Amino acid sequence: MNQTVWITGGSEGIGRALALRLCDDGAKVAISGRREGRLAEVAAMAATRRGEIYPFPLDVTDRDAVAKTAAAIEAQIGPINIAVLNAGTHHKMSADEFSSDIFEKLIEVNVMGVVYGIEAMLPRFRSRRRGHIAVVSSVAGYRGLPYASAYGATKAALINMCESLKPELDKANIAMTVINPGFVRTPLTDKNDFLMPFRMEPEDAADRIAKGLARRSFEISFPRRFIWGLKLARCLPYAVYFLLTRRLVR
Ligand SMILES: NC(=O)c1ccc[n+]([C@@H]2O[C@H](COP(=O)([O-])OP(=O)(O)OC[C@H]3O[C@@H](n4cnc5c(N)ncnc54)[C@H](OP(=O)(O)O)[C@@H]3O)[C@@H](O)[C@H]2O)c1
Repeated sequence: MNQTVWITGGSEGIGRALALRLCDDGAKVAISGRREGRLAEVAAMAATRRGEIYPFPLDVTDRDAVAKTAAAIEAQIGPINIAVLNAGTHHKMSADEFSSDIFEKLIEVNVMGVVYGIEAMLPRFRSRRRGHIAVVSSVAGYRGLPYASAYGATKAALINMCESLKPELDKANIAMTVINPGFVRTPLTDKNDFLMPFRMEPEDAADRIAKGLARRSFEISFPRRFIWGLKLARCLPYAVYFLLTRRLVR
């Protein structure tokens, strides 16, 4: 893979595993996250691999910093071919704990962090008439789930945004991908205290994402058994859907 890839949230979890996987394939990977030390550790792991990894510390909620980081990556390692906007966070919230603070925080990171990334990359991709934007959403965005009113809303917003952008970006020869993972073993899910069916390892998730990106698929979602069940649930009428989701309420 002779490509330059920018991954936000590349210091941990899915982003870290994807950076290492693409580096194994020979890519030049720029990784961003807030913790410089973690980024440096991941970058050092490139020494024994085919490609290269470069740390670019960044808080994705800072619009100017996102634009400057995109410019710095292109100046230092070359034009970005694929931007994987993956940085995100989760906060379980029950109806009893309903709080605009939690919404604001999740919207800032999960939605605006991605929006700033797209805003930084689109003019560059447009002027080159090529490029690939990949947004990491979640199956939690498919339909409303108990305790996920804030997280799920941010992920549903991302899926809708990607669907909306795709036809126009197709015409500009810019690929649009939305990545909807099921449960993946990362620090984000390690803190969950509920059953996580079919939870997979980050390396496995990274492998599926890398293959989907190479195919320039619109949606990359996994694991398949879980996805089919959830996609079927999207077609259920509310009466049946709520019969099922009420059972998830403790
Ligand atoms: N794990 C799952 O089961 C799962 C399932 C569906 C979707 N997802 C989505 O996949 C993405 C990655 O999740 P993960 O499980 O790999 O999470 P993770 O292990 O907690 O890693 C999150 C990454 O995002 C970065 N990040 C968080 N806030 C940031 C900010 N404000 N600015 C810059 N970077 C920030 C973190 O780095 P710093 O802390 O150093 O900033 C870290 O590198 C998220 O969008 C998540 O919603 C995960």
